[in-house]
Amino acid sequence: MARYHAGNAAVAEDGRLFSHVFDRNSPPIIAALTPWLSARSGTVLEIGSGTGQHAGACQLAFPGLTWQPSDPDPEHRASVTAWRRHLRLDDLPPIALDASRDWAGAPEVRALGPLSAVVSMNVIHIAPLDVARGIVHGAGKALADGGLLIFYGPFTVNGSHMGEGNRAFDAGLRADNPGWGLRDTAEIEALARQAGLSFAALQAMPANNRLLTLTKP
Ligand SMILES: C[S@@+](CC[C@H](N)C(=O)[O-])C[C@H]1O[C@@H](n2cnc3c(N)ncnc32)[C@H](O)[C@@H]1O
Repeated sequence: MARYHAGNAAVAEDGRLFSHVFDRNSPPIIAALTPWLSARSGTVLEIGSGTGQHAGACQLAFPGLTWQPSDPDPEHRASVTAWRRHLRLDDLPPIALDASRDWAGAPEVRALGPLSAVVSMNVIHIAPLDVARGIVHGAGKALADGGLLIFYGPFTVNGSHMGEGNRAFDAGLRADNPGWGLRDTAEIEALARQAGLSFAALQAMPANNRLLTLTKP
């Protein structure tokens, strides 16, 4: 499993981990999420919150939503909690959620009620395909009608890499773990259709990333 820890990420005394690309990526992510999320209320479940920096920034950017973080890794969950404290946000313990399992049926998720959105950033290329499958199928169950499933990260689009950097990144991921690698937007859209979700938009983001938005009609 892809992990941040003191050996590969900066870490503060309070347990906050720091991703080296967060500062660059966060402003355009918030800007791209704003038209989708700013008028919404309810709960957004973030899958694979990692350091928790995006969870904190998104909670501040979208105060009308409850931004529920989650991650299977206990060190990441500790960092998510530490970031919320650092940002003086109310305590909201991250859920220990493994997206390759039936997470939508877990009691902690059911207790959230029908979700306004599920958001997953930089997760599905750095995990086995079962994680992408699990996120999409779980979202099909857990989203409210009209809810959104939003992926952010590097993708191939109809089989083509978006830039040489992504091609090299993909090759490196697959060399590390043959089950990892950039997912194709068409593959995710096909999984989404099986889960009762429809394509809403594919937006280009800086550094050849994409924001893929699907909706539960
Ligand atoms: C590259 S990090 C991205 C973290 C954060 N979303 C970001 O963009 O900075 C990938 C995250 O996916 C999480 N992850 C890995 N396998 C997972 C799984 N089966 N279910 C949910 N999250 C998973 C890892 O623990 C890690 O926090």
